[in-house]
Amino acid sequence: MKIDLSINDYEHAAMPSRKEAVQMANGYLQARIFNGSNPQIIFDHGVHIFNVAKIAERIAARSNGRLNPDIAYVLGLLHDIGRIKDETVTKVPHSIEGYLYLQKKGHGDIAAICLTHGFIDKNIQRPDYPTFNDEQFYETKKFLRNIKYNDYDRLIQIADLFSRGREILSIRQRLDRNKSFYKISKLSYENKAFRLRDYFDKKYSIDVEQIVADTFNLSKQPRKSDRSFIFILPKPYAARPVRQII
Ligand SMILES: [Fe+2]
Repeated sequence: MKIDLSINDYEHAAMPSRKEAVQMANGYLQARIFNGSNPQIIFDHGVHIFNVAKIAERIAARSNGRLNPDIAYVLGLLHDIGRIKDETVTKVPHSIEGYLYLQKKGHGDIAAICLTHGFIDKNIQRPDYPTFNDEQFYETKKFLRNIKYNDYDRLIQIADLFSRGREILSIRQRLDRNKSFYKISKLSYENKAFRLRDYFDKKYSIDVEQIVADTFNLSKQPRKSDRSFIFILPKPYAARPVRQII
């Protein structure tokens, strides 16, 4: 099997600048609102992509120069650009939509991030993707089989895990949230999510969850039952006396 290493060679890609990426992100958020999507949902999604960009940038900044924080930021900001269209209407998964969209816009060099970010496990299983039609599923499976993930792909995958709408969640909280949302007791990628965190912690001698907690001023607390953590908001500041208006 031939693996094409150039398809996700982000460090040698014609990368949009941070400013261009912000403009592209704002552009697709505005397009969704213009086309009638619920502004609150799009606002939350906007917070999500800026949070993913920030998380990816902060982790990259702690990699001792091995990952470029600007590249991480741009990829974080654009990973969901396929949401320029509502996938529930078009029936085209946002991963595929984003991949094709970036290619069309002359950013084929970084288009792979749209596809890789959503698949921690490359070996995707048909029952896990009921919203994909057969062609979409098998084309995605083929694409993933022919790509070798690098640490930028993995970085956006893990940054995406910590952010859900406007919320920042630990990996444990995120997995539990997904389970209750989909009303299922076990996720096939549960162990892989923790392994992804352990991969970054070990390779770069960092504590990924602590970096995320610090970035958003959250406190990271261990759960007694297992090796996972939860994020909690710091205690509210003591109420200040109401200032008199004179
Ligand atoms: Fe995302």
